[in-house]
Amino acid sequence: MFIAVLADIHGNLEAFRDVLARIRTRKVDRIFSLGDNVGYGPDPEAVMELIRKNTIESVLGNHEKAMNEESFISWFNPLAQKAVRYTRDHLSDQSLLAIKDYPKSRVFEKIRFVHGAPPSSPVLYLFQLTDDKLAKRLHAMDESLCFAGHTHDLGLITYDGTHLVHSTLPFGETRLDPDLKYLINVGSVGQPRDGDNRAKYVLYDTRTRILTLEAVPYDNRTTADKIIKAGIPEQYAQKLL
Ligand SMILES: [Fe+2]
Repeated sequence: MFIAVLADIHGNLEAFRDVLARIRTRKVDRIFSLGDNVGYGPDPEAVMELIRKNTIESVLGNHEKAMNEESFISWFNPLAQKAVRYTRDHLSDQSLLAIKDYPKSRVFEKIRFVHGAPPSSPVLYLFQLTDDKLAKRLHAMDESLCFAGHTHDLGLITYDGTHLVHSTLPFGETRLDPDLKYLINVGSVGQPRDGDNRAKYVLYDTRTRILTLEAVPYDNRTTADKIIKAGIPEQYAQKLL
């Protein structure tokens, strides 16, 4: 099985469209999203439509959690709360209903998909866990591979049953060792914070265990202009540039 894994699209239609166009050339069997499909960006509904059209299976991100639970909005800082409210006002009933059904995690072919941290937290950032706590979570996990998003950064964490090692996730191909457990932080499609403004996503071949990190340039100027025009806090436009 050949899969694509995306995270943190954040209502960025230009980045998402270009990533989907790239994925189409890679002939994947299935596409998974690690959540935060909406939030910050100007086009949440158009992104949700593409998710439906491309049968992308998603887990719950903290921004989807805010769509489902009014009380959770206070978890965000005041600027992010403004962006959350914009998103809620620009989603159709169909999209809001779809988001209500998002699970906190998915397991497919012994691979775990989660937004924040395994086993199934949509809110906890990986950097909030000590190595000891993260090692315990990986130890308890039945699967040997977990994909996570939420930080909008890239990372590769290996666990050999005793030690946890943090590495950078390199562009291009990485062959995963069948004797290790892996936690892969896949970066962000629509709001990258890894110091490179291109959209990131990964491909994974379950048969060869080859993981590929790809970066896609897109028209970030257009998205940034749309954010400002929509009245979403300008800092979310600046972050794209
Ligand atoms: Fe996010």
